[in-house]
Amino acid sequence: MYLKEIKVIFHKELDPLYPKEEVDSFFYMFMEHYLELERFSLVLQPNTIVSKEEEQPFFEGLARLRKEEPVQYILGEASFMGLKFKVNPHVLIPRPETEELVSWVIKNYEGKSHKDLKILDIGTGSGCIAITLAKLLPKASVLALDFSNMALEVARKNAELNNVEINFLNADILDLNIELGFEFDCIVSNPPYVREMEKDQMGNNVKNYEPSEALFVSDSDPLKFYTSIAAFSLGHLRPKGSLFLEINQYLAMQTKQLLVNNHFKEIDLRKDIFGNFRMLKGTRP
Ligand SMILES: C[S@@+](CC[C@H](N)C(=O)[O-])C[C@H]1O[C@@H](n2cnc3c(N)ncnc32)[C@H](O)[C@@H]1O
Repeated sequence: MYLKEIKVIFHKELDPLYPKEEVDSFFYMFMEHYLELERFSLVLQPNTIVSKEEEQPFFEGLARLRKEEPVQYILGEASFMGLKFKVNPHVLIPRPETEELVSWVIKNYEGKSHKDLKILDIGTGSGCIAITLAKLLPKASVLALDFSNMALEVARKNAELNNVEINFLNADILDLNIELGFEFDCIVSNPPYVREMEKDQMGNNVKNYEPSEALFVSDSDPLKFYTSIAAFSLGHLRPKGSLFLEINQYLAMQTKQLLVNNHFKEIDLRKDIFGNFRMLKGTRP
């Protein structure tokens, strides 16, 4: 079969479900992943033929896309700040908003001597935050925790894939007795923050496939992770150490207030590229 015919079938089957450009992008991602062909190769060699064996993953993937499964789970990988990460349904797919948070952390430390910099990532999931920080701040030592062993398994593989050394720990951040026994210069976290009431705004690709324990919190206590993380950070940050958080845009003021109430200083609330309050930094006195 001609490769370009498969592209036509992708559009016929998926255009009712996704914007045309997204269908193009799915197709090109499949081309790169399964055939190691760049997207422009279809223009240069429009009559590329694929064997029965080669076309099989395209049609299997197409069937999964029709059920609105995220393309990253189908391919088993996602990219984050130019790095590759393995993903499966036990971990959240890394988001562009989180890239902005990580860029902020890096800007905060790069150029400065960060020889003994100790960083903790809370709720590491795929490990995207911890691993990118370890890669881009190579002198830092990084610890990453999650309460999911399945997620930690993926994160460990990703650390290996990206050639960085990270210490991983299985721990529950809601357990107020958690005690690590040492202090950090920087604590960063993208904890679960989507309220049940916001579920309707999310696509089926998120609701039906991504791990709900990574995303959702109750309507009655939506900041419970931030409450725990703030208390934990007060006890585990060095004086002048920084806490960086990704936050729910609808709860920005309350989350900021929570840091004020916990005596954090130099509080900085920032918007993402879409103009939504998404990131918060506080400094331990
Ligand atoms: C929003 S995801 C963030 C994943 C990853 N850091 C990222 O930015 O893509 C939140 C993570 O917190 C973890 N988590 C949820 N509850 C937790 C708890 N009580 N203690 C520790 N980790 C928890 C989930 O397993 C999930 O990996």
